[in-house]
Amino acid sequence: MSLAALRPMSRADLPAFHGVMMSAGMDSRSSWSRTTVQDLEHSLFAEGAGGFVALGGGGEADLGEIVGCVGFRPDGAATLTLNKLATLPEVRGQGYGQKLVQAVEETAQRGGFRRVLLAVSQYNLEVIPFYKRLDYVESDEVYRFAHPNSPKPVVLMKEIE
Ligand SMILES: CC(C)(COP(=O)(O)OP(=O)(O)OC[C@H]1O[C@@H](n2cnc3c(N)ncnc32)[C@H](O)[C@@H]1OP(=O)(O)O)[C@@H](O)C(=O)NCCC(=O)NCCS
Repeated sequence: MSLAALRPMSRADLPAFHGVMMSAGMDSRSSWSRTTVQDLEHSLFAEGAGGFVALGGGGEADLGEIVGCVGFRPDGAATLTLNKLATLPEVRGQGYGQKLVQAVEETAQRGGFRRVLLAVSQYNLEVIPFYKRLDYVESDEVYRFAHPNSPKPVVLMKEIE
């Protein structure tokens, strides 16, 4: 059973959000690993942007601990971009990742966006099947918030009904 409990993130969550990202085991060549708390604040608190955190519930000690994170940011009126999705390695396979993606999709739906767009780093292509299981498809669209010095990412997209 999934114990995934999510809530919208607040500024007070920034250090824990950053901590989850840095513990995710991302390839050190990816710009992800150089993300600072200030970068996060800039992205997650841009106009119309935000994020969710997933709370662990496995036992008394970790009750309420932040174990997953995701961000979103609009690119125009039709596209909501999804970014900074991560779960701690010790909670993987319990549905947290999927719930975090769904929270962004619901945000898109409520906001009248037509699609969710995300970018997968060339150093992290092994995550693509995770998104394909959630009905994301490869797209030629431009992911506007890609890091300028990184190799061109693979862009994935899902239409929102
Ligand atoms: C990608 C990530 C967030 C998935 O988190 P998670 O908490 O394990 O996700 P879930 O438990 O919701 O997994 C949902 C399903 O996808 C599957 N899945 C997870 N990672 C997968 C992968 N890399 N390839 C294929 N399937 C995968 C799970 O087994 C699960 O299947 P099930 O429903 O049959 O059990 C996590 O692996 C992670 O933080 N990776 C490092 C950071 C990263 O790559 N972020 C994405 C940046 S674009």
